[in-house]
Amino acid sequence: GLSALGMAARPAEAAAQAAADGPKPASFPKDFVWGTATSSYQIEGAVNEDGRGRSIWDTFSHTPGKIEDGTTGDRANEHYHRYKEDIALIREVGAKAYRFSIAWPRIFPEGTGKPNPKGLDFYDRLVDELLRQGIDPYATLYHWDLPQVLEDKVGGWRSSETSKAFGDYAGHVAARLSDRVNSIFTINEAGRFVNFGYGWGIDAPGLKLPDADVNQVRHHVALAHGLAVQAIRAHGRKGTRVGPAENIAACVPAFDTPENVRAAEIATRELNSGFLGVILEGKYTDGFLQFAGKNAPKFTDAELKIISQPNDFVGLNIYAPQFYIAASDKAPGWSVLPFPASFPHMNSEWLRVGPETIYWAPRLAAKVWNIETIYISENGTSSEDKLHADGQVYDLDRIMYLRNYLRQLQRATSEGVPVRGYFLWSLMDNFEWIFGYEKRFGLYHVDFATQRRTPKLSAAFYRDVVARNAIGV
Ligand code: NOJ
Repeated sequence: GLSALGMAARPAEAAAQAAADGPKPASFPKDFVWGTATSSYQIEGAVNEDGRGRSIWDTFSHTPGKIEDGTTGDRANEHYHRYKEDIALIREVGAKAYRFSIAWPRIFPEGTGKPNPKGLDFYDRLVDELLRQGIDPYATLYHWDLPQVLEDKVGGWRSSETSKAFGDYAGHVAARLSDRVNSIFTINEAGRFVNFGYGWGIDAPGLKLPDADVNQVRHHVALAHGLAVQAIRAHGRKGTRVGPAENIAACVPAFDTPENVRAAEIATRELNSGFLGVILEGKYTDGFLQFAGKNAPKFTDAELKIISQPNDFVGLNIYAPQFYIAASDKAPGWSVLPFPASFPHMNSEWLRVGPETIYWAPRLAAKVWNIETIYISENGTSSEDKLHADGQVYDLDRIMYLRNYLRQLQRATSEGVPVRGYFLWSLMDNFEWIFGYEKRFGLYHVDFATQRRTPKLSAAFYRDVVARNAIGV
């Protein structure tokens, strides 16, 4: 437990006294939701238990050469069996919300047909335990583990049959869990798995399709989102909240002149048109369609209507920035800037440091699409975490990263940007996709040989932020 760190949680009065004496901590809004996040394939293990079907990630991770350290999610964190102790870890940092994902192949081993009762039972037990420990469940329906049979039979997301199957699955989950689960994220990071999985062959299912097909895949994923929203409204408890969890193309002004801010705003709309934009506007932008040209997705007005069902919130996964400047002399009026090789990054090379990303992305998204409720559905970093000789993990770079991002998030909420909650990625180290277990994102260190969880120093840092609902110096 955290007591291993030898640090007692700071009582509220002590914090208030410290605040009165020292620099003023920057508070978050009352009722701000503090959470942590994980996903099914990254933590569950138990891939052959209780009738679970294969997913495209089982196939992919078992294909030699695909995962850097040659590992798979077969065991991962054994969370399927250790979920009670893992939920206790969430409680230990004081977070009151938990974003987890449901493995579609546990519920529909055959992709379609009749749901597997044992699969649903697991999430039933998980949700009950969360509630018992005072934690609000936020379920994600798709975090990349597509049933392999759908890939084999209909071509996965290349077919709108998969979109329909997803709608059906969403309805069953809502019928079973929405008496206790208030908030459902449909699809996690379409912007990532569509390009990496179907365009560049990096993620499962490892395809390198031509642009036209990739655009069609993305359209089917957007359609799946819309069908899921409809199914949840039809079969879930009235009032169940639903929205996407997207890695928005995070456009940040290189420096904040009004022109650069405007450039970043326009870029936000155009670059996200293929998923967030079409969901929130009910159409692809002219710029998006022109750029795609003959590779544009094929769609009907009826599909656009389904895709753009009203959402209750929008989840944004926020990590690295892209920087923009105004370029009024060239179409489309903005430029995205290349990074110098010396630009700092965290322990993952793609994770360039940009705390202001968590300020600008929600601010510009709220403005472009008039969003009233935003969650930061993920934010965090990997760090080269080693158990020190004394058994502790001093992840000072993660604390530095989180402190800076949270300060910028506080700046956003204090200026009225409608961010209602924050889910830290991740509760514990886990299977980081193509990087296997080499990249550690957790607040808790996991020794994968013994399955021992150890709180890192960042767990104590996060507990303090959550307890005070504020970010200090
Ligand atoms: C985004 C993904 O949703 C999650 O699965 C992944 O582990 C984190 N980012 C970190 O890369």
